[in-house]
Amino acid sequence: MRRPLRVVQWTTGNVARKTVRAVLARRDLDLVGCYAWSADKVGRDVGELCRLDVETGILATDDVAALLALRPDCVLYTPLRFDVDEVSRILRAGVNVVTSAEFLTGRTLGEDARATIRAAAEAGAASIFGSGMNPGFAQLLGAVATGVCEEVRHVRAVESVDVSLFASDSNQDGLGWGRPMGDPGHADAVRAAVAVFEDGVEVLADTMGIELDDVGCHVGFAAAVHDLDLPGRPIAAGTVAGLDLRYVGIVDGVEVLELHQRWVMSRELEPPMPVEHGYRIEVDGSPRITLTLGIMPDQPLETLTVEDLHGIGMTITGMPVVHAIPGVVAARPGIVTYADLPVVASPLTSAPGRRPTGSA
Ligand SMILES: NC(=O)c1ccc[n+]([C@@H]2O[C@H](COP(=O)([O-])OP(=O)(O)OC[C@H]3O[C@@H](n4cnc5c(N)ncnc54)[C@H](OP(=O)(O)O)[C@@H]3O)[C@@H](O)[C@H]2O)c1
Repeated sequence: MRRPLRVVQWTTGNVARKTVRAVLARRDLDLVGCYAWSADKVGRDVGELCRLDVETGILATDDVAALLALRPDCVLYTPLRFDVDEVSRILRAGVNVVTSAEFLTGRTLGEDARATIRAAAEAGAASIFGSGMNPGFAQLLGAVATGVCEEVRHVRAVESVDVSLFASDSNQDGLGWGRPMGDPGHADAVRAAVAVFEDGVEVLADTMGIELDDVGCHVGFAAAVHDLDLPGRPIAAGTVAGLDLRYVGIVDGVEVLELHQRWVMSRELEPPMPVEHGYRIEVDGSPRITLTLGIMPDQPLETLTVEDLHGIGMTITGMPVVHAIPGVVAARPGIVTYADLPVVASPLTSAPGRRPTGSA
């Protein structure tokens, strides 16, 4: 049997709580280190920082050189912000990177930053892969759904979610919830905050083997009908509480790919923005395909806390990057996407403290 792959977790925020748990549960992955961005986390056990019921013996550190000296196979990079210099240093040291943090192809960062990352990866013979649920895994689903079609004219991936559970998350800060309707510059601010969806369009195109001429973005808004008393993010009636975002991939002047995100902080909006809670792929082709990914808790709903429900969102964000680790470690050096990896799937594992459901 191959030795387990050595993994360093980079920061211990929301997504990390799930990725660390999953790494500990997988026999083919070994947690060997952890980076702390927050000074007060240095020296503390990763199990405690990730609110797990286990002591891992791995203490968080802000000493990057010491972490790289551990010679990890992969860094699981889940900070709030993607840092080009930091990631380049890791890659240049020969360490692969999987990330949920605002990076899939590097398109959004601009050509200079993308070239820096590519050069660092090639110098270190390492690979970098970015995903999450959306952008990320949802684009793999979109590409896979076209696999039975004889003809494909348009592919649309829809994420439609009440995001009020995530209201206080830092990655919601740039979306301008609660700004006045029609506020000048708001649409541009939203585009900038979630520009990584451009990378998502590129991933879908790459995985389908399409060359895009351009990527565009349309933004729509809806207002709260009532005041919303959301933790950390109160929203006044009449201000923005619904966002409808369409990132489109264009070939020969025609929109052929679409990532459609509908995020609402309330069900009562004007104009109405109904949500379905989940992910749907629609392929306009021959034949026409619809693929729905329904996501439900594995415990009775009434037993779950708000934190448990929030955690489901973090699980589906983190697992695509954890399960990609073996494929990314084996991949060619450079920026890799779902187009370059074997199918990303989960072995039968069980989380710490739960009965195994099969051999991992
Ligand atoms: N594609 C998807 O489906 C998807 C979905 C959700 C989230 N995401 C992305 O995944 C990443 C992690 O999300 P999260 O909710 O886990 O983030 P988070 O908990 O808000 O932050 C993660 C960690 O980043 C560090 N941090 C805080 N502020 C920072 C800053 N200004 N610059 C650099 N690092 C900072 C902290 O490290 P310490 O642990 O040391 O304090 C924090 O715990 C984000 O980039 C988010 O946008 C992607």
